[in-house]
Amino acid sequence: MNQAKFEFGGVPHRSNPNPFQPPLKAGAPTPIYTTQLGALYQGDCLAVLPYVGDEVVDTVFADPPFNLGKTYGIKVNDNREETEYVAWCKDWIDECIRSLKPGGSFFLYNVPKWNVVLGAYLMERGLTFRHWIAISIKFSLPISGRLYPAHYSLLYYSKGKPKTFRAIRTPIQTCRHCGGEVKDYGGHRGAMNRNGVNLMDVWDDVPPVRHWKFKSKKRRTNRLSTKILHRVVHLSTNKGDLVLDPFGGSGTTFDVCERTGRHWIGTEVENCDVIAERLDDDHLLPHESSDWIDNGV
Ligand SMILES: C[S@@+](CC[C@H](N)C(=O)[O-])C[C@H]1O[C@@H](n2cnc3c(N)ncnc32)[C@H](O)[C@@H]1O
Repeated sequence: MNQAKFEFGGVPHRSNPNPFQPPLKAGAPTPIYTTQLGALYQGDCLAVLPYVGDEVVDTVFADPPFNLGKTYGIKVNDNREETEYVAWCKDWIDECIRSLKPGGSFFLYNVPKWNVVLGAYLMERGLTFRHWIAISIKFSLPISGRLYPAHYSLLYYSKGKPKTFRAIRTPIQTCRHCGGEVKDYGGHRGAMNRNGVNLMDVWDDVPPVRHWKFKSKKRRTNRLSTKILHRVVHLSTNKGDLVLDPFGGSGTTFDVCERTGRHWIGTEVENCDVIAERLDDDHLLPHESSDWIDNGV
């Protein structure tokens, strides 16, 4: 495994009389920021993940850099050789699998090119395939000589039989012009569940994060909609469960965990101020969700 160095000692950003005590092994680095529900570590995920206890995490959500040559900051190389990128992914995936409870869920967000390879690796490591969720991209650009890329892939695996799977329903689709229902459901409309239809494995209702109400002025790119995390968290966890996200970014996962009463552990190699401010100030609004969730919370 690549050994990474933890670069930051870490003083909590704000005084927190009752911080979450994450289940980390002795010698673990100090979090840079804590709340009553979560702990954030600033540093390379490979310097922190090995300290996360064995089989303590209920859900892993990972949205790594896609190796597309983007600029994240000075510490991230998003332009690696293909074999190097895959080897690096396998390193952090191994640690995440180790920390996952039996029955826990693993969600991995990436472009299809990498998720084909990484999904095969998750299976090789004994995880159970649940779904390849296609998340429609609203404003992608056509690529000459290729099909127009219109989705990102969200892999959903579990460690054995999932211990938590809560049904989510989405509203019956209506036409935004006339308000009428779009499908006739083969004549079975009357027998349908009044809470909506089962969540599909194509999510074409995820809004892009464009408006400043939802987006930090300090971080303009690479921020997921809370709607994705809202679904991930509700599908696979109950209140009080623990979610691990090695690639914190702007803190979308932690924000959703805070709002829904889940514990969280996060790492982020670049500046973590954006995340701390987001969780402290509560000024960035979550996207609206009209999902119906089994058992409410
Ligand atoms: C695609 S973004 C994640 C965005 C996040 N899901 C959100 O909604 O805000 C990937 C993040 O991983 C961070 N990152 C890259 N390499 C890392 C590493 N080795 N350890 C920890 N974080 C890393 C980058 O700085 C970037 O913020």
